[in-house]
Amino acid sequence: MSKLNLDAFSLHGKRVLVTGASSGLGQAVAIGAAAAGAQVVLTGRDSARLEETRAAMTGEGHICVAADLTSAEQRAALVSQAGVIDGLVHSAGTAAVRLFRQIDEDFIHRDFSINLDAPLLLTQQLLAKKQIAQEGSIVFIGSIAAHIGTKASSVYSASKAALRPAGRALALEVGPKQQIRVNYMAVSYIETPMLKRLAEQGMGGSMATVTEPPLGKGVPEDVANSAVFLLAPASRWITRATLYVDGGLTCQISAQ
Ligand SMILES: NC(=O)c1ccc[n+]([C@@H]2O[C@H](COP(=O)([O-])OP(=O)(O)OC[C@H]3O[C@@H](n4cnc5c(N)ncnc54)[C@H](OP(=O)(O)O)[C@@H]3O)[C@@H](O)[C@H]2O)c1
Repeated sequence: MSKLNLDAFSLHGKRVLVTGASSGLGQAVAIGAAAAGAQVVLTGRDSARLEETRAAMTGEGHICVAADLTSAEQRAALVSQAGVIDGLVHSAGTAAVRLFRQIDEDFIHRDFSINLDAPLLLTQQLLAKKQIAQEGSIVFIGSIAAHIGTKASSVYSASKAALRPAGRALALEVGPKQQIRVNYMAVSYIETPMLKRLAEQGMGGSMATVTEPPLGKGVPEDVANSAVFLLAPASRWITRATLYVDGGLTCQISAQ
């Protein structure tokens, strides 16, 4: 009889690149991946906060690379410093909310530039340079805003929603030979600096939960734990999944 191999849940011997590692969910993912044994490449714009994340991590060999991922030059510089990685978690993003009547071309471009273009282009460059190892894992952090309606978030929702079909198509391209997996997490509202900023702007209500999730409020570590599973060999047969990390918020809503 086969036994459960707990090593499959470990990230020992793996290198993982985490975007948005200077704050919130990305910071928790970086700390969680290190706790699971990975060497982590942390990226974000704010060098001081990246160093704070690194200081909170266990293990050795982690590197910080400050980069604005909307800049082609800075993305290229990150790729050249990242080396070969086994895992890639895209957490960098913004949640700029605006009523539909207030949106304009510039607003749409700025939102899509970091939430959609940057993760796709960074992934493309790493793949083109063969810097995602065989059996690697790519995780996009999406939002339930892309699956349920939330006021003033039409652009944000659209930018996050596009990651899912993009990831599905990519899963078909990188699965057969490289055995690289691509998964998407639909995350619900979790208190991070992003959510605090929205509340300070008086926009908290637009992102407020439809109802209290059956499992109550989530914390960044809930996202980190799920990301570690999707990075680990334990999920080796899971690709193109949408993992709802929402405390059951969408139980009573059609969230396709
Ligand atoms: N918190 C939630 O409730 C929630 C729910 C669903 C989905 N999400 C998604 O989860 C991700 C993380 O959100 P969070 O709550 O952790 O937000 P956060 O605390 O504001 O963190 C956002 C991260 O993205 C980075 N970032 C933003 N623009 C960037 C750019 N142009 N180039 C490089 N890095 C950039 C930030 O870097 P710097 O701070 O260094 O500039 C920061 O590390 C986002 O994609 C968000 O849409 C969040």
